[in-house]
Amino acid sequence: MLRARIVIDKERISGKIDRRIYGSFIEHLGRAVYGGIYEPGHPEADEHGFRRDVLELIKELDTPIVRYPGGNFVSAFKWEDSVGPAAQRPKRLDIVWHALEPNEIGVNEFAEWAKKANTEAMMVLNLGSRGIDAARNLLEYCNHPSGTYWSDLRISHGVKKPHDFKVWGLGNEMDGPWQVGQKTAGEYGRLANEVGKAMKLFDPSLELVACGSSNRNMPMYPQWEATVLDLCYDQVDYISLHSYYGNEDDDLPTYLAQSIGMDEFIRGAVSACDFIRAKKRSRKTVNISFDEWNVWFHSKVEDNDGVPWTVGPNQLEDIYTFEDALVVGCLLITLLKHADRVKIACLAQLVNVIAPIMTENNGPAWRQTIFFPFMHASKFGRGVTLDIPVKSPVYDNKEYGDVPYLESVVTYDEENGQITIFAVNRSQKEPLLLECDLRSLSAFKIIEHIILRHEDIKATNSKENPENVVPYPGSDVKIENSMLTARLPELSWNVIRIGII
Ligand code: AHR
Repeated sequence: MLRARIVIDKERISGKIDRRIYGSFIEHLGRAVYGGIYEPGHPEADEHGFRRDVLELIKELDTPIVRYPGGNFVSAFKWEDSVGPAAQRPKRLDIVWHALEPNEIGVNEFAEWAKKANTEAMMVLNLGSRGIDAARNLLEYCNHPSGTYWSDLRISHGVKKPHDFKVWGLGNEMDGPWQVGQKTAGEYGRLANEVGKAMKLFDPSLELVACGSSNRNMPMYPQWEATVLDLCYDQVDYISLHSYYGNEDDDLPTYLAQSIGMDEFIRGAVSACDFIRAKKRSRKTVNISFDEWNVWFHSKVEDNDGVPWTVGPNQLEDIYTFEDALVVGCLLITLLKHADRVKIACLAQLVNVIAPIMTENNGPAWRQTIFFPFMHASKFGRGVTLDIPVKSPVYDNKEYGDVPYLESVVTYDEENGQITIFAVNRSQKEPLLLECDLRSLSAFKIIEHIILRHEDIKATNSKENPENVVPYPGSDVKIENSMLTARLPELSWNVIRIGII
């Protein structure tokens, strides 16, 4: 059996966890909105057409912020189309995803849905085909109480109280050649600065997210971050990162190590932020909004090429396996390890489109494998992260070098007197004996050990078999003196919860 050791000292705080690190994303794409969160006529639909069964699953995930309405979609979105009397809203061609956009769900409906889902909306602005005026008008429409053209228009649309959206994304993936209105770093940085300025003139307490690189392989990363921030540093609060991971080569050891790539990506972006802070002699810190991350490789964008223009086509409907859940677990641990600088993160996406929740039109909704690590982190990963020295055996990987078998992070929730260890055993062959030195705790008890594991790494959940891959309680955690030992099965996601007495 492999052996690894960590030391838990609750005084050694490495970062304060912003709960928005457990955010998610709903884009007007595929069946995320139409057939996902919204399906009037479905037996579970409420008076607004929102699926109650989907809302219940989202509440289980307890996601505090949901990014909307895109994604690539937003770069050609005309927000004015999405408000006002439903019968008068224009149908548009969504040229980005090759779909028909009926505009049945728009800004006000999404705000209503967000309330029902106990979440906050993170609104993304179109800085692809549009600019300052469309952005500031939308802000006034959404956030101003009354007495102006745009706020009174909202009231005339039946929404008396302003939405008071606090977090705004300044465009989406503006470095991407696939984006409508792609920009150079210089063009985008200037625009982000001017839009940011106009937004903050309206309300300086808004939190603004500038677009960082669409992924770590973009040719301009991290120069893009440095150039953009040099131009808009004073106006923005976060730089966004996006990244998707996959196992195209069916090479599990490399796939499981991809969280190391995420770690390096974050470190690079943080360095760019701090380089600009130093350059400007600024006391302000720009943090990271990792507002698109997930496993995405089972489906392809091209899958939809040439299909007729329809509302809510099947797009990007990845069916996740057990091994994908392990990778999502490693990615969550990585985000938590950077809790000092990653303040917002959005699992992309939430329903049907590369999502933890799947639905069938006019049928049931169920949890995909990746649902569980996300739910555990969101429920139990609260408070602060602790700096834990880790001693773990490693395996050699051609791409990532020495990869520790144990991937782990520890959180401490002082308010509830709880410590949680999140751990993945990357070994395919052997269980791992985890020894935790709890020397800083005088009295404690094990609350529970939760394990997610399946004999078949390609196992999935489905409509027919929705509970094929589900967590189960572990029974192999012991405490002797101040040493906790737990057996982590080979290829497993583990949550060990400790109560401080
Ligand atoms: O999440 C799917 C797409 O991936 C988003 O629309 C885009 O921002 C990214 O490239």
